[in-house]
Amino acid sequence: MTRVSRRTLLTGGIGLAGIGVGAAAVGVGHEVSASTTDAPSTLPFFGEHQSGITTPMQSHVNFIGLDLVDPADHRVLQSILRMWSQDAANLTQGRPGFSDTEPELAGDPSRLSIAVGLGPGAFASPALASRRPGWLTPLPDFAIDRLRPEWGQTDLVVAVACDEPMTLAHTVRLVIAPVRTRTRVRWMQQGFHHGRNLFGQVDGTVQPDARRYDDLVWNDGREQPWMAGGTSLVLRRIAMNMDTWESLDRHGRELSMGRTLDNGAPLTGSHETDDPVFTATSGGIPVIPESSHIARAHRRTDREQFLRRPYSYDVPPSPGSGDTSDSGLIFAAYQRDPVVQYVPVQQRLSDHDALNEWTTPIGSAVYAMLPGPREYLGETLFA
Ligand code: HEM
Repeated sequence: MTRVSRRTLLTGGIGLAGIGVGAAAVGVGHEVSASTTDAPSTLPFFGEHQSGITTPMQSHVNFIGLDLVDPADHRVLQSILRMWSQDAANLTQGRPGFSDTEPELAGDPSRLSIAVGLGPGAFASPALASRRPGWLTPLPDFAIDRLRPEWGQTDLVVAVACDEPMTLAHTVRLVIAPVRTRTRVRWMQQGFHHGRNLFGQVDGTVQPDARRYDDLVWNDGREQPWMAGGTSLVLRRIAMNMDTWESLDRHGRELSMGRTLDNGAPLTGSHETDDPVFTATSGGIPVIPESSHIARAHRRTDREQFLRRPYSYDVPPSPGSGDTSDSGLIFAAYQRDPVVQYVPVQQRLSDHDALNEWTTPIGSAVYAMLPGPREYLGETLFA
């Protein structure tokens, strides 16, 4: 998306570039000067897969959890998805949404993606009941969970992400406003990503090989043909106790993770991407403790792999709580089948993980992320 084409759009195709008054007349003069970089700022909306899943992480996200007012009427769901598609097709390309009252805010997409997923409740209508993927059920109870209902499962999720908070806020508004009589927003989870999490750790290093996305991330349509090209999302909200973490010394922090804080290298290596050697010992003691997060989380079988997109959150503590922070991780994991790929790892971490001393899961939900649209999101579900 170039500035000229955006301006052309905002001015009805007159192409005011070079006329001087053009940019000021539509209120985009500031943005024009602020955007001299050549980095591509748009992600495709149409295609085999939704953008924002295997896309390199954007810096800001807002996961919006909504419930349907009338889940028994699948036509309403279809029209919501059509409406979102129409707006997303424009907004992701730097064009205003359909009933955009602030069209000037749409001009800087900053790698905007709008990815939509369905929770179990979206399949409540008789027309859709048989189309729910078998894995789209609540995760088992884990002993470490202290789940709060306010962060629980919703009928729909919209993951809005981009590199610019103003664009994000504007887009979120356009997702919610047109559907406000037919849905209820249960929660929004705003997060940011800068390579490290709030414990200071380099986060997001070990990921499935991109050449295996078709096998490990994308649905092949074998169980539910309409899901081909989609995936599943496990979204966990995990509180991180900054007070107790800060009282631990640096060496203790590195042992609990099995990696250095300096550059995220495994304790048996020197670079972030070095493979950890879990069998290495020093004086008979494992260099990477068996109870460390990476030793426990590391896959024990080939299927135990998923794409992690860890976003941090940091919101004001509840007034009067006396807490010094309300921070943590919005842990998003994408995989073809959460029951087979995600749950065994989560179970192992629940059974034991040194990190559990400072982290507490407080929210949990699972979604079927729709295949990428050719015409509109969810088209194969209603075909
Ligand atoms: C690795 C942090 C929760 C699964 C890591 C790493 C960090 C980290 C810093 C090492 C760098 C990397 O490979 O990204 C955290 C924090 C968590 C958390 C702070 C909670 C607040 C989880 C959860 C799961 C998980 C809930 C899945 C159930 C993994 C996996 C790895 C990993 C699979 C890679 C292990 C390997 O093969 O080396 N995590 N994590 N993490 N984490 Fe977490």
